[in-house]
Amino acid sequence: MSNRRPMIAGNWKMNGLRQDGQALAKTLAEKLPVGNTAGFDMLVCPPFPLLGHIEAALSGSAIMLGGQDCHMRDKGAFTGDTSPAMLKDAGCSHVILGHSERRHGHGESSELINAKATAAHTHGLVVVLCVGETEKERDEQRAQAVVEQQLMESIPASATAENTIIAYEPVWAIGTGRNASVEDISDMHAFIRKTIASRMDAAKARLLYGGSVKPSNARETLSLEDVDGVLVGGASLVAEDFWAIATASI
Ligand code: 13P
Repeated sequence: MSNRRPMIAGNWKMNGLRQDGQALAKTLAEKLPVGNTAGFDMLVCPPFPLLGHIEAALSGSAIMLGGQDCHMRDKGAFTGDTSPAMLKDAGCSHVILGHSERRHGHGESSELINAKATAAHTHGLVVVLCVGETEKERDEQRAQAVVEQQLMESIPASATAENTIIAYEPVWAIGTGRNASVEDISDMHAFIRKTIASRMDAAKARLLYGGSVKPSNARETLSLEDVDGVLVGGASLVAEDFWAIATASI
């Protein structure tokens, strides 16, 4: 960790109904009131139908709200999609883009993610841009090449260290309970910081790690020089666990 402010982000994915989300958000909101003196930033990214409810549950809190994806267009005949303007209108300040569950589950290309990120920036959203290799790509010693290509193709011309956060999420570590080793994380984060230098102020950019982050491994991960926060899936659904991860950053 450096003087970059830690960002603790929760990706709820497709989990929780209204009551679950509200209870989770309210518990967290009480711990992090407006004026945030905790020493870290906190972001939650609920499923789209819950955004309005969670925004209300977070009132009086410094916790920020984000979407899990957005379309590249402002409006129109795009059934099932959500525009960046709609996210902004729903109270979001951030949007996750390029998650592996979108890249692999929905066939999203880096080119498409780039267009979405440009649109998100146009609407004043901070993009949490995800990159990460599969297990096969790592086994074939191609992890850095894959991540470099994803970064170069997905980061839009509009990116700055302020409006873009990079999240490294090795696909094989997501939801598997298998956290990447500190060496893997450390090497890849240093590589990412070097790689993005042509696109933004790399010294200022915040780089998150994601993939089976839990209270038991958070401190070790967050203590690494180039890790400026975490993007948490499963453990972000349990208020005590997510809070324990967050406090491990300070
Ligand atoms: P898990 O923390 O459940 O492994 O998920 C990580 C992730 O994909 C966050 O975006």
